Amino acid sequence: MSSSTGPVYGNYHGYYTKRPSVRDPRLALLPETFFAGKGVLDIGCNEGWVTCEIAQSWGARQVVGVDIDDTLVRAAWKRRRSLWSLQSPELKIYSPKVMENGSDSSPKSKRARLDSDLDGDTCDYFPMSCEQSHGPLPIPSKAAGEHAFPHNVTFRMADWVAEDYASDEPIYDVVLAFSITKWIHLNHGDDGIKRFFLRVHKNLKPGGVFILEPQAWDTYAKARRMDQRLKENAKYLQLRPDDFSSLLQEIGFGPPQLLGSTGEGGFHRPVHMHSKL
Ligand SMILES: C[S@@+](CC[C@H](N)C(=O)[O-])C[C@H]1O[C@@H](n2cnc3c(N)ncnc32)[C@H](O)[C@@H]1O
Repeated sequence: MSSSTGPVYGNYHGYYTKRPSVRDPRLALLPETFFAGKGVLDIGCNEGWVTCEIAQSWGARQVVGVDIDDTLVRAAWKRRRSLWSLQSPELKIYSPKVMENGSDSSPKSKRARLDSDLDGDTCDYFPMSCEQSHGPLPIPSKAAGEHAFPHNVTFRMADWVAEDYASDEPIYDVVLAFSITKWIHLNHGDDGIKRFFLRVHKNLKPGGVFILEPQAWDTYAKARRMDQRLKENAKYLQLRPDDFSSLLQEIGFGPPQLLGSTGEGGFHRPVHMHSKL
């Protein structure tokens, strides 16, 4: 995909400067141990902030972020490296404290520690300015902790709708689709959104969960004005975001559970959880 066109896929650069938060409020709707030991797929990961947060502070075993925009995927790898550089030595994978004392690496204590670092309660071990002048800190070999940050997070470029997924396996415990359905719907139509949900279903293990934050129908108007092709596609849409829950149930998910609504201003959206039957 060329990133020289406008952000017709919602492929905003600097998205998280418009949606800034130390901890993502959508993740905060989930129980404390939700991601612990889990394999997670984040579709439409943008610059990888949410993906990295899950890998770094929620105890996930493996997290994969995919995005249609290769520039964003490169920025996500960069984010991973910066977060690793900023992370306190006590939380680094080769730290004797982390390796010897399991409780220090529990998602709860890790998050508390990372929060206090980010709040500025503790010193900066390798401040941003150091990264700017000297580059990021090197990442140790995988042998130091395959399922610890940063080795437990990877990114790749993919169009999750257009790619052939015949050989996909049900390998994930959790799939996330935050603020992406509008872009898939407008670019690929009703068939595209159905294909997207079918692929998510295929990606999940039985009992696995799909966490969905759909954009409301009234927000489609501004997006389709951005591009003649989206405007044209929009004319043929019969499905509405309110139909997604029943569509997901037809595909093989259980009834939705509303986790809550969160986000500032125009980003205030519901977050639903759908379990694969
Ligand atoms: C509005 S951003 C949301 C970013 C992130 N999920 C969040 O909510 O914090 C939508 C992202 O989905 C990506 N995207 C859109 N269509 C996609 C597709 N078919 N396959 C993969 N990524 C896609 C865009 O490039 C963009 O980064």
